[in-house]
Order: sequence, then C-alpha cells, then structure tokens
Amino acid sequence: MGADGEEVLMQVGLKIWRYDSKTGDRALREYEVDAPEEATLLDCLDIVKDKHDGSLAYRKSCRMMICGSCGMRMDGGAVLACKVRMYDIAQEGRVPVISAMGNLPIVRDLVVDMDPFWQKMRAVDPYLQPRYDQSQERENVISQPQMDVIHKESLCINCGCCVSECNSMESDPDFLGPAALAKGMRFVGDPRDGATIERLEKYSEPHGLWDCTRCYFCNERCPKGVDPRDAIAKLGAEAMKNGIDRDMGAKHAKWFVTSAKTTGWLRETELVPKTQGIVSSIKEMKFAMGLAVKGKVPPPFPPHVAAEVHESRALFDLVKTQGRDGAAGIVQGEKALGRIESHHEASGGRDPYTEADSAPRPFLPSEREEKEGVAP
Ligand code: SF4
Ligand code: SF4
Ligand code: FES
Repeated sequence: MGADGEEVLMQVGLKIWRYDSKTGDRALREYEVDAPEEATLLDCLDIVKDKHDGSLAYRKSCRMMICGSCGMRMDGGAVLACKVRMYDIAQEGRVPVISAMGNLPIVRDLVVDMDPFWQKMRAVDPYLQPRYDQSQERENVISQPQMDVIHKESLCINCGCCVSECNSMESDPDFLGPAALAKGMRFVGDPRDGATIERLEKYSEPHGLWDCTRCYFCNERCPKGVDPRDAIAKLGAEAMKNGIDRDMGAKHAKWFVTSAKTTGWLRETELVPKTQGIVSSIKEMKFAMGLAVKGKVPPPFPPHVAAEVHESRALFDLVKTQGRDGAAGIVQGEKALGRIESHHEASGGRDPYTEADSAPRPFLPSEREEKEGVAP
C-alpha cells in the first residue's frame, strides 16, 4: 500500500504448462499480470484466470497453507502455491515455470489425479486402533512428551508435495511413499494405538519403508516441516527394535550396526553374504573377484579393527542404556514450526511490513490505543 493509500502493483511473469489429458495437447504459455506486491503464486494464478485466461485449471481452497489443495511445481520443485510470495521473484526478473506435481497423473493443466495418493494413504490404516486395555468411555489423554514424538507427523496436510518429488516412487509407483509412511509413523508412535506390531509388519512388506532410497527430497519439499524421511527412519528403527528385520534393507542396516560395534568401521565385503545370503553371494563372486584383482577389496581376515573402537562400542551401549533404540534414537535437529517461515524471511528478502510502500503492519488493539490515543 502506498503512502497515499493507493495499492502498489508489481508485474509478475509466469510460464505455465497447459495440458489436456483428453486430447493430449500440451503447451507452455506465458502470462504477465499486475499483482499487489504481497501476492502469492496462487493470487497470481487467480489473476491469470480472472483477467487473462478463464480456462486455466488448478486447485485451491483455504489460501493459507492448511487445506493442502494447491500443490504444484515451480521451476521443477513442488510448492504450495499459497505459500510462495512472488515479490522477490518478480524483483529478480525471474519468470518461473509452473507445472503440475510429479508422480501423479495430470488431469488438466495444474490439476493432478490424487486417487493414487489416497490409495496409499488408505493402505496404512490411517486411524487410531485403540488398545484393548483403554477405556472406550472417556478421552485417553497422553502427556506432552509422548505427543512430541509424533508432533511433526501430525502436521501433514496431505498436499502431495513430498510424493511429487519422491525418487523411489518414480521408479516404483507401488512404493507406499513419504506421505503414507509419515502417516503410519503418526500411529506407530502413538501410545494409544494397539496395532503397532501389525502396522510395522505391514509397512515392512515389499514396496514399503525399506524401499526408500533416502534421497531426502521429501524433507526438502514438505511445506509443513513434517520431514517424512525422518518418519520413515523412525519406522525402520521401530521395526528393528521389535525384531521385524526380514527385509534386505533391514538386514543391511543391522549389519551396519554390528560391523560398527565390533570393528569400528563398515566391513563391506561381508555386506552381501550378511544381507542377501550365501546363494546370492556366490552369484556375485565373479564381480567380487574383479574388484579384488583391482585392489578394491580389503582381505576379510583378520578383520581390521579401528584404533578407537571402544568409542563406537560405548556409543552402542549408551543407546541401549538410555532406551534410545527405536524411534527415540532418531535425532531431529529442529522443531517443525521453526521451518515454517515466510518466503521473505527464507530468501533473506525485505520485511513486507516495515519498508516504504509496504502493507500496513497488523497490530493488537492495545497498540492502537497507545499510538492513537483511542479510548479502550
Ligand atoms: S527420502 Fe525416500 S520417501 Fe523421501 S523422497 Fe526420497 S525416496 Fe521418497
Ligand atoms: S508430508 Fe508434507 S509434503 Fe507430504 S503430504 Fe504431508 S504436508 Fe504435504
Ligand atoms: S489453498 Fe489451501 S493449502 Fe494452498
């Protein structure tokens, strides 16, 4: 808003991938709109639709990062359109490319078919299954520290941004995926749920938690700070703690721990027999011999033991003594809400409230009384 109360507009350029699944027609169209400088990407799409091209299709509802409807891609990465401020982008002269989310079929323009997303969600039984020893008559309250364990996972708004960027899902569309597995952890970590073992068994099946490639794109792209990859790590740790370790991924992780504890380093030559078994190891023998000839396989016997191996053994014992095997041992570095920052702060840009021609700063009634001498 200008000093004289006039609305200050900025020019925003957008390139939008248009697509019609019925005809297969696909085209990159460019639009330029005049938008208020506090406008988000979603506001700019609204202006395109209202004033330039009413046929543009996209989803929206709340416009405040709550409903999860407006997931799409900007310059190749998933975003919530109502979270992205356009001011800095327009100032830099950038014209971002907007397209539909990945890993989900496109229906039209920026609208994807969410059915595969909901199928995966249903597959993890996304509801509390009360323990038989709990009262069914009254509310079962848990403590704040118990709730903190699943705080991040509870923030999910089902927007699909993590699924859009999932590497594993790209190669295996049947992979349960980050959103569904994070939802699974929300119930595995809830002490009121009575189906922990059944859940962990189910999530450990093929296409389940061990098929994650740990690319961390889901953590990077989640607009709510859920950190789905961390939730998957917690599920894996809980599965191991409960002896559910028949999957090759689980055996792999188990060998990492044994190897570090016994010799202080990872004995990769033993990794294949320990995780895939003797038959598979024999099949890989020719490949292993080739590596050995090139000096890339250290002799397995006698195993090299690291000088400070007592430190890794002490770490192992500490985790056991503190009861930190399982999800409690997965350290998450920051609070989820700390990650939910405005686009201006994240990009180091200007403060939208303090500079000239900016939006009026919101104030409490008491501040207004102080400033303007208004009677309470
Ligand atoms: S870390 Fe795993 S779940 Fe997350 S995007 Fe990568 S492959 Fe998918
Ligand atoms: S985990 Fe994050 S990105 Fe994935 S659906 Fe939930 S809120 Fe969206
Ligand atoms: S419109 Fe609801 S999250 Fe963006």
